[in-house]
Amino acid sequence: MRRPVFIANWKMNHGPTEARAYMAAFTARWTPHEDRTVIFCPPAISIGVVMHALGSRRDIAVGVQNVWTEDAGAFTGETSARMAADAGARYALVGHSERRHVFGETVAETALKCAAAVRNGLTPILCVGELLAQREAGTTNEIVLNQLRAGLAEVGNESVAAAIIAYEPVWAIGTGKTATPADASTVHAHLRGALRERIGDRAAAVPIVYGGSVNGGNAESLLAARDVDGLLVGGACLDPANWATICGTRAAKG
Ligand code: PGA
Repeated sequence: MRRPVFIANWKMNHGPTEARAYMAAFTARWTPHEDRTVIFCPPAISIGVVMHALGSRRDIAVGVQNVWTEDAGAFTGETSARMAADAGARYALVGHSERRHVFGETVAETALKCAAAVRNGLTPILCVGELLAQREAGTTNEIVLNQLRAGLAEVGNESVAAAIIAYEPVWAIGTGKTATPADASTVHAHLRGALRERIGDRAAAVPIVYGGSVNGGNAESLLAARDVDGLLVGGACLDPANWATICGTRAAKG
């Protein structure tokens, strides 16, 4: 059984002051659950505050929302995986739809960013997802499998087996539209098939999470779908009480 993974993507919200208040509210509500993994992805500037708020708690992990491909140097404005790891992050989102479609990140860059994460001991959370026009044209599988294969091209099989994959249809992010559990399940099964081609039976242990307008009302049915191993949540994680409710979603299959 794969342990469900709940990932909060704060995006460009909650600077240090708000992050401190948020974490106080969340940690007061959320007791450690051994049957699930909870990961916070705050803006890089708030990682230190979140780490401080977690203190000795090891049940909640932190990820960075994006990294640059190099570890250090003249890259004004960027955060390296090495620096994120130094600040306490253990995960790195790579290829989030906003990176790809707002900032023009290429699949070649996602591959180098996964490699940078792995090189610095961070677990990549590689995000893939199709645009609405691609879904309507029937090319969803082709798009997401290409993003998956290309995104993992620069890391070894051990790192593929240890990674997390997030399926986030672009048309579902921040729009209030979600994929149906059945649609998500279908894409997740294709993604797992592609992982199997690469790493064989170890693909069965790789968490594939769903993201795109997940909220307290749809979390349980999405999580019940086959091959949906967790949730990557944006808007609905911004309130600590909402997020604690989602993290507590019953995780039973079928
Ligand atoms: P959303 O964002 O939950 O607000 O749709 C999810 C994401 O972009 O990771």
